[in-house]
Amino acid sequence: MDLLAGRKVLVIGASAGIGAGIAQRVAAEGASVHLAARRTDRLEQQVAAIRTAGGEATAHACDLESGDSVAALFEAVARDGAPLDALINAAAVLWCEPFATQSEHAWRTMLAINLAGAICATQHALAHMLPRGSGHIVHVTSTAGALAIPYLSVYSTTKAALAHFLTAMRGEYGRSGVRFTELQIGNTGGTEGGGVVERPPGEEGIRSIMRWTGAPSMMEIDDVVGAAMYALSTPPHVRLDRIVIREVAEIPT
Ligand SMILES: NC(=O)c1ccc[n+]([C@@H]2O[C@H](COP(=O)([O-])OP(=O)(O)OC[C@H]3O[C@@H](n4cnc5c(N)ncnc54)[C@H](OP(=O)(O)O)[C@@H]3O)[C@@H](O)[C@H]2O)c1
Repeated sequence: MDLLAGRKVLVIGASAGIGAGIAQRVAAEGASVHLAARRTDRLEQQVAAIRTAGGEATAHACDLESGDSVAALFEAVARDGAPLDALINAAAVLWCEPFATQSEHAWRTMLAINLAGAICATQHALAHMLPRGSGHIVHVTSTAGALAIPYLSVYSTTKAALAHFLTAMRGEYGRSGVRFTELQIGNTGGTEGGGVVERPPGEEGIRSIMRWTGAPSMMEIDDVVGAAMYALSTPPHVRLDRIVIREVAEIPT
């Protein structure tokens, strides 16, 4: 239970779903974990659970839509003077609807959080990791990015673009000691689904997702957490570019 003892890990999107699950496990494995998201009440609940179990955790309010907020997050995380070993970004939002009638607010928000926010966090993490020549940056993407699912057009685009960005990062910084992993995942239950719980897709949206993702089967949060832990526990001389983990389905990806 101390796979990550002595490490410092920042999890963005840690107030719910997969990010919360990863934060809990990272702490259980002995790391000092910094949890970030917009809803601080939810983060404080996560922190309390970690501390009750004997782990070390700190909550930070952060909105990936704001560059200033992301900068403030990294400043706060650096304040204890310990180096940042890993960033895991599990934050994203999603609207599932036809693009032609989608609000500008919806598609701009997906681009701002899922893509620009992820890129912004990567830049700040690099500022801490490159001078030390070590660090691990993990972004959670989606099989929707590989499939380009109708009714999830902009969401799929943000995930495909983020995967592409990570490939470019490996080219620029492949020899720096900083590693970049794409954790590409499929349908996972027990989460807020990037807002799907609040904004359930209409019938057409559901039909589209089912057609493109096959069976209505789901993974559990712990399945994805296990993959994240595998990524984080790889030694520094191993480059783990991409993990694809999805529900059992008949899909050619
Ligand atoms: N669940 C699935 O089936 C599935 C499938 C494929 C890929 N994924 C990906 O897996 C990751 C986790 O998804 P999930 O289903 O666990 O989602 P979730 O339960 O909705 O959790 C999303 C997290 O992102 C945070 N977040 C959203 N907007 C943010 C912002 N502007 N700034 C900071 N944090 C923000 C949320 O916190 P606040 O609201 O408190 O800010 C929350 O902690 C996402 O990248 C998602 O795209 C999920």
